[in-house]
Amino acid sequence: MDKMRITGGKPLNGTVKISGSKNAALPILVSSLLADGVSTYHNVPNLMDIASILRLLEHLGAECRMEDHVVTIDTTGFSNHEAPYELVRKMRASVLVLCPLVARMKKARVSLPGGCAIGARPVNLHIKGLHRMGAQVELNHGYIEATAKKLTGNEIFLDLPTVTGTENLMMAAVLAEGVTIIRNAAREPEIIALADTLNQMGGNVQGAGTSVITVHGVSSLNPITTRIIADRIETGTFIAAAALTRGNITLTECTPQHLSAVIHKAQLAGAQIELGNDSVTVKGPETIKSVDVKTLPYPGFPTDMQAQFMVLMSLASGLSIISETVFENRFIHVSELRRLGADVVVSGNAAMIKGVPKLSGAPVMATDLRASASLILAGLAAEGVTEVHRVYHLDRGYEKIEKKFAEIGAQIERVPE
Ligand code: EPZ
Repeated sequence: MDKMRITGGKPLNGTVKISGSKNAALPILVSSLLADGVSTYHNVPNLMDIASILRLLEHLGAECRMEDHVVTIDTTGFSNHEAPYELVRKMRASVLVLCPLVARMKKARVSLPGGCAIGARPVNLHIKGLHRMGAQVELNHGYIEATAKKLTGNEIFLDLPTVTGTENLMMAAVLAEGVTIIRNAAREPEIIALADTLNQMGGNVQGAGTSVITVHGVSSLNPITTRIIADRIETGTFIAAAALTRGNITLTECTPQHLSAVIHKAQLAGAQIELGNDSVTVKGPETIKSVDVKTLPYPGFPTDMQAQFMVLMSLASGLSIISETVFENRFIHVSELRRLGADVVVSGNAAMIKGVPKLSGAPVMATDLRASASLILAGLAAEGVTEVHRVYHLDRGYEKIEKKFAEIGAQIERVPE
């Protein structure tokens, strides 16, 4: 296992190219199962989670290759309908193969993804929707066992706007017989990206990006060549880094309109932000202002940016409140930030942050992907040396983050534990 060693206090200046979106790539790579033949995907981020999903697709019989951010998937040999525990437990987004398996193989045996550090993360809404489309679904010995002679379009109301739940059900509906309406659908940019991909394959998905998605089932889909959208959470992470270190960073190959809530809150905190078509330039403020944040489903402030924004607020000039409304246990990073001198008190789903003049470097432990990013940010701002342990969490969702930070002036290195 590696750790990151950071000597903080250096302002970050320069240009960073944003990678493709992990959370767009995962469902889009899985959608290759919906067609026979070779599909090609450009701008795929080189991440542990991408390696995990490609391993699972190979287990199902596809042939996958990744070379310099281009992935090709040949589904000619796609024949296995089982996603085993040892693969699913490594990455819960593996549950995204459930509906494509039922749509194409008429059956699926997918390990129930366990919970994770940030919450129980049930998949009951994925299962309920699949059932509404005519599948028989049972839970046996830790597996979701689903069968369906055919899937039939139906109206589905999601109790919560679940992101991967919406994605799973879109992939079931696109090959179902008849029309499916998904109400209270998630509206994230990654949902639109998947819908665009399904339509490019010959599907008929309308309304993605709104809370009502209408899918007219088709009999078959074709393989395609497409490009993965930019990662809005990586973009937001670097915006926070610039604001924290009084730096001046330009982010390229990104999509500013995908993170309006984050940009708005960073501007309220005092950052000067200039938006281009596919770039963002951020100048950090001399004094960081306290701003309250509540995480919400898109287009609200993303829960995946909550930990990073908390670091910014820990150095602000007053008191701020961050409420986490999406996941039930997403303040694990607080105890680690307190080790670095942050003054944060958690009560229920709210964290009260009292800004301090400085953070001081210390050894800390990463616990989940976005918490590990927040610890890196804190280390970049702290005085002295910070060592972030268990950075494999970071490698799941950020491509060569230490290289990107070093190239804009950070003193950061990856060292073996
Ligand atoms: C996606 O997870 C993202 N992952 C998460 O990013 C992100 O934090 C989350 O959406 C929220 O935006 C991917 O896209 C691969 P949800 P997902 O289903 O789909 C409850 C990261 O850091 N729920 O929208 O699993 C659930 O418990 C990761 O990149 C049910 O109750 O999230 C949660 O409280 C972390 N039943 C809420 O809905 C269900 O069937 C939102 O979860 C499904 C979800």
